[in-house]
Amino acid sequence: MNRFSRRRAMTIIAAGGAGAALNSLTGDEVKARGLTTEEQAATAMPAARAFSGQHSPKPLPFDPAKLKGISEKLIKSHWENNYSGAVKALNAVEQRLAAMLGEKDLPPYIYGDVKREELARTGSVVLHENYFANLGGDGKAGGKVLDLIKQWFGSYEQWEAEFKKTANALGGGSGWTILSYNLHTGEVHNYWAWDHMHNAPLGYPLLVLDMYEHAYHMDYGAAAAKYVDAFMQNVNWDEVNRRVEATRAGK
Ligand SMILES: [Fe+2]
Repeated sequence: MNRFSRRRAMTIIAAGGAGAALNSLTGDEVKARGLTTEEQAATAMPAARAFSGQHSPKPLPFDPAKLKGISEKLIKSHWENNYSGAVKALNAVEQRLAAMLGEKDLPPYIYGDVKREELARTGSVVLHENYFANLGGDGKAGGKVLDLIKQWFGSYEQWEAEFKKTANALGGGSGWTILSYNLHTGEVHNYWAWDHMHNAPLGYPLLVLDMYEHAYHMDYGAAAAKYVDAFMQNVNWDEVNRRVEATRAGK
């Protein structure tokens, strides 16, 4: 295989945004992109499912007009711009990684930049989906998670104070506050996360709070603590208990 031909083929494909399906071009697509027979052969490698770039946004699991203290306008903007934007970006990153699979001369530091984006965008998508899914409730904790909270924090009140303190420490900046069950230690903690990639290893998210300014600035300006109070009134503890059941803490 001629290196030049291979590189040209990959460049043509990547420019066409079809990096997720290197070996799935139709005859017409191949013709339209002007690939020679040799260049067509260069694209005939197995597709990597990991880089399929086919994620799609999950709809809001609650009526955004019915939250207490968080406006419909803010929730819709958050879902459409930040969350859906992260989904689109993750797809683009995966497609770029697929195209890079065949670029043997690619400098590792360039590849590293895209791998960093893969981690960041995946974190954003997963955390936003958990965040929206744990909203829309009545804010009244109960069930197994309440037992766990009492076991690890002494009382609900003491846990909530620590959760809020952790969240407010991120006010004016960015990040996530995550009540987690740690699959390794078996412990329950409120973890502080500076960005989408910041998480205690094997921390399984039970309750996720978005502390990026886009999650509250439209309603509360810089008053992050008021947003944290409003969030607590809307927690869907049934969803949190479903997550507990998915871990051995729920057994
Ligand atoms: Fe967000």
